[in-house]
Amino acid sequence: MIKQALIGATTLTLTHLSFAQTTVLNADAALDVTTGKMISPATVIIENDKIVSVSKSNRKSYPKDATVIDLSDHTLLPGLFDMHVHLTFDANAHGYKRLQLTAPRSAITGVVNAKRTLEAGFTSVRNLGAGGYADIALRDAISDGDVPGPRIFASGPALGITGGHCDNNLFTHEHKVVADGVADGPWQVRKKVRENIKYGVNVIKFCATGGVMSKGTKVGAQQYSFEEMSAIVDEAHMRGVVVAAHAHGTNGIKTAIKAGVDSVEHASFLDDEAIQLAKRNGTVLSMDIYTTEYILGEGEKAGILPESLDKERQVGGIQRESFRKAVKAGVNMVFGSDAGVYPHGDNGKQFSRMVQFGMSELQAVQAATINAATLLKQQTQLGSLEAGKFADIIAVQGNPLEDITLLENVGFVMKNGKVVKQ
Ligand code: ARG
Repeated sequence: MIKQALIGATTLTLTHLSFAQTTVLNADAALDVTTGKMISPATVIIENDKIVSVSKSNRKSYPKDATVIDLSDHTLLPGLFDMHVHLTFDANAHGYKRLQLTAPRSAITGVVNAKRTLEAGFTSVRNLGAGGYADIALRDAISDGDVPGPRIFASGPALGITGGHCDNNLFTHEHKVVADGVADGPWQVRKKVRENIKYGVNVIKFCATGGVMSKGTKVGAQQYSFEEMSAIVDEAHMRGVVVAAHAHGTNGIKTAIKAGVDSVEHASFLDDEAIQLAKRNGTVLSMDIYTTEYILGEGEKAGILPESLDKERQVGGIQRESFRKAVKAGVNMVFGSDAGVYPHGDNGKQFSRMVQFGMSELQAVQAATINAATLLKQQTQLGSLEAGKFADIIAVQGNPLEDITLLENVGFVMKNGKVVKQ
């Protein structure tokens, strides 16, 4: 035992000595997302997969074998986070078109979308809902280095009531189709949480109201009772897993917050009480305010049901006003786009809408970096440019605090200390 341990230790030291790879990024500026201050000019030194220093003056002396990358005219930022995506969904295949896609086929779709997402500057995502645990397979293939993609925090199948937004309602009863995440009653939902954890999820998602894209659900109506939502949250928290609730309607939002969810997704119909509840409970809101433009513009071609287009007309505008109110009230917000409903890689288009509807440029960047890392409980490892954190770094040409649309065109992407786009 001792011999083995010693050999292990020696090997580690040798590996460290012979393979320590230093990369130096020299840029016009680097954004400290926690304070909003620009460090300019900026030099970031990376050793292997970690940031070792972020400093103001351009240093002249680096290790001889360091790779030095010149990013003059560019601003460095931490890699972006999208807290609500569906990498295994194809934005061109909605409604009945999606029924042709098996879970294995969806996983391959996910490979293509993961690369697009990473190249758009999103180095971490939360994947909220996938059948057949296709998201878990994709996450593991990326972390094993088989395919490129962001760090994925995956939910597996979303929990939902029979006939609800997270069920599949496109068949008649003769076909007996039930989505993977359907569970009714406190004990069934607890079992489903346990099952998802058994198969490796990082987060639990459930549907607390109807939705836009599902057939036969009222977008404003609550799904799951308080008792069921509390059971989901209790079971997940007991296992150290955070909970995200899909909720458009006011009652569903409030009930989910009272049940203790960590984040509310969409959060379309907010009233003052819901906003105060979110503030008091520290509940994070993740509001997908760009996607309405795609649904109403391109959705019909992509197979979105007429019923869903109608529901989107009820939700889109109100959600944006709710966003404005929530920002004004100081609710904690993260960036969540629902990409998969619209094309992956276009995630960054939401930034300008977040600014248009009330956020400062800095707040929008924080929502997609440090706030998101905190929601994932990864803030000591990810979410800002700081010594000791993983080197997930992007660069844009110009100052994104003056022009937020620069985040739609990310020119340089590094993940884990490796350049993936330059
Ligand atoms: N997945 C969501 C749903 O089906 C999409 C909602 C999109 N619309 C919006 N305004 N955010 O309910």
